Amino acid sequence: MANSPVESLDYFLTTTKQVRRRLDLTRQVPTDVVLECIDLASRAPIGGNLERNRWLLIDDAETRLALADLYSRFGRGYLEAGQKQIESMGNDSTAARVVESSMYLLEHLHEVPLMIIPIKLDRPGTTTFEQATYWGSVTPGVWSLQLALRARGIGSAWTTLHLQHEEDAAELLGLPVSVTQIALLPTAYFTGDGFHPARRRRAQEITYYNRWKEPVPAPT
Ligand SMILES: Cc1cc2nc3c(=O)[nH]c(=O)nc-3n(C[C@H](O)[C@H](O)[C@H](O)COP(=O)(O)O)c2cc1C
Repeated sequence: MANSPVESLDYFLTTTKQVRRRLDLTRQVPTDVVLECIDLASRAPIGGNLERNRWLLIDDAETRLALADLYSRFGRGYLEAGQKQIESMGNDSTAARVVESSMYLLEHLHEVPLMIIPIKLDRPGTTTFEQATYWGSVTPGVWSLQLALRARGIGSAWTTLHLQHEEDAAELLGLPVSVTQIALLPTAYFTGDGFHPARRRRAQEITYYNRWKEPVPAPT
């Protein structure tokens, strides 16, 4: 683990992963710890400083089972199709691992001790401005929550597959039609020690300078 604040932040930014296989299904996540993390997540930027984000914590076994059922109703076919596509394309081991781990989560979702659903109190508009303001006001907080949880030994995974049955989930959870579910985060303490940083393209490959596709000059 790192020493300086910058090293610590870099450590958590590079090793906060979407945790699926390593969720400890046997250990409860204390609500007070989650609330502490939500307090931290609430510091993330929000358009107009309007606090229109809410969080729903679900540990009731029957509700988790019902949400897991909605998740797999669409998710199983979706992931199986992904598996077939990856096989037909040859040897993409990273993609194959992601689908395999996603399938594992799907099979065990009902056993995950806590589900967290971030919620926004309104519905997204359609223009780019409306969409950017809407999602940009809620997703930074969800990522902050994942970071804060991870710093406390708790893993989570950003998932959206249950939203193919958004209305059924809303009815199950008693949500009014005026609000939006942003994601479903299966949440549990993680097993094992740390996580390896995910492999990603280098900044130089994905960053342009002053004009579209102009490369960033090398430092002199
Ligand atoms: C908007 C969004 C939706 C996602 N939906 C799902 C999902 O429904 N199920 C799932 O297993 N993973 C889901 N993921 C997780 C991605 O597959 C994950 O980010 C990817 O595997 C990279 O993993 P890493 O962050 O650990 O490197 C989602 C991620 C994002 C950002």
